[in-house]
Amino acid sequence: MTRRHAGKVEVFPTTDALMQAAAGRFVRSAEEAIRASGRFVVALSGGSTPRALYALLASAPYAPLVDWPRVLVFWGDERCVPPGNPASNYRMTREALLDRVPLPKANVHRIRGEADPVEAAGAYEGELRRTFATPEGPPRRTPGARFDLVLLGLGDDGHTASLFPGTAAVHEATRWVVAHHVAALSMWRITLTPVVINAAAEVVFLVSGQPKAAILQRVLEGAPRPDTLPAQAIAPSDGQLRWLVDAAAAKKLSAS
Ligand code: 6PG
Repeated sequence: MTRRHAGKVEVFPTTDALMQAAAGRFVRSAEEAIRASGRFVVALSGGSTPRALYALLASAPYAPLVDWPRVLVFWGDERCVPPGNPASNYRMTREALLDRVPLPKANVHRIRGEADPVEAAGAYEGELRRTFATPEGPPRRTPGARFDLVLLGLGDDGHTASLFPGTAAVHEATRWVVAHHVAALSMWRITLTPVVINAAAEVVFLVSGQPKAAILQRVLEGAPRPDTLPAQAIAPSDGQLRWLVDAAAAKKLSAS
């Protein structure tokens, strides 16, 4: 079957090779963005897969290659829990990466998972709009006015960030950030919407392990059904889309 979903798919023999490639990609994206606009604005993903990437970025040889004081860190989504909770994406990232590199505290823009979800989503969108100097309207596709890089994962139900199957957030047309109660998880989540993700200069999915093989095949090669497979709603309109996957996750892809 031919691949229907857009984007470049790169398959690596091992999880370690995948993480090394992702770290290299992060370093190059940061260099390019800093050269073009003086800073690198990145949205990090949560879940378990990126922890190994963050640990690599925090150590040699990668850490010294990044001009950390020029990096602005955001998140693609957050679980509505306090920042010290083991489920917090902020906590995972802080422990694996942020506490280990010379990143000024003012450059860290976390989603306030401990606050009222709707208010926290509004505040986070406000922070993004200030960062991108776009007080209203859709994101602009110019350097300094959009994410340089958005890192995403793929859930085994086809979700990405906290865009879950059957949720209105997948079709959001104006808001950059929404808060919603995800019935399948019995939990509130705050997430970037496709409005802002698809305006990014670069979006990179990181997918690892055999349990992801079936869903990755459906997302990349199946019929377009973003309602049930929200990851299919991600298609940068003026940017690059990359899928970095390991061989175990790529096992069911016909074209790999
Ligand atoms: C989160 C995420 C989510 C994640 C996928 C994959 O907060 O859970 O940002 O979208 O990336 O669920 O998660 P794993 O890497 O744990 O499989």
